[in-house]
Amino acid sequence: MDDGMDVFLGRLDPDMCVVTAAADGERAGCLVGFSSQCSLEPVRFVVWLSEVNRTFRVARFAEFLAVHLLAPEQRGTAEVFGGQTGDLVDKFRQVRWRAGYGGAVVLEDVEAWFVGRVLARVDGGDHVGFVLDPVEWGGRDASGGPVLRLADARTIEPGHPVD
Ligand SMILES: Cc1cc2nc3c(=O)[nH]c(=O)nc-3n(C[C@H](O)[C@H](O)[C@H](O)COP(=O)(O)O)c2cc1C
Repeated sequence: MDDGMDVFLGRLDPDMCVVTAAADGERAGCLVGFSSQCSLEPVRFVVWLSEVNRTFRVARFAEFLAVHLLAPEQRGTAEVFGGQTGDLVDKFRQVRWRAGYGGAVVLEDVEAWFVGRVLARVDGGDHVGFVLDPVEWGGRDASGGPVLRLADARTIEPGHPVD
């Protein structure tokens, strides 16, 4: 990669989220660093899923995705979703979860979460952006503490090989 972009990208420290998908009786979820709000009114949020991940393969057919923010102390949960692949393990045996709106998989014990209807899937290169319209949400008090960021998670080895 061009050195200049290394310098730019190295300065970023985004909030991490766990994105879950359910479709056709399958559940999947992975740790995501590429995400942001992308519209004010109406509120829209986009999450970018790598085409190689199992989560992407399930999300392709999902009507809803759930997006969760973790506390910095929840690195263990980040390791489950970012350091393991659902191709090999059932991540949902390792965390508490419940069914949410439209059958979305909502993790318990997180800082904040929402379920969004998938409005569009956008080709971004080797990741696909899922543009979400929030339909259900919850979490702890908005004045809560910090959330898990890339700096807290960058030593996690991605669970799914990139090629
Ligand atoms: C710090 C970090 C950031 C990541 N960001 C993303 C991301 O933005 N999008 C994505 O699809 N995967 C991302 N991953 C990779 C997946 O979380 C990881 O490969 C996961 O094991 C895939 O699980 P799955 O095959 O069950 O979907 C990230 C991993 C780490 C450790």
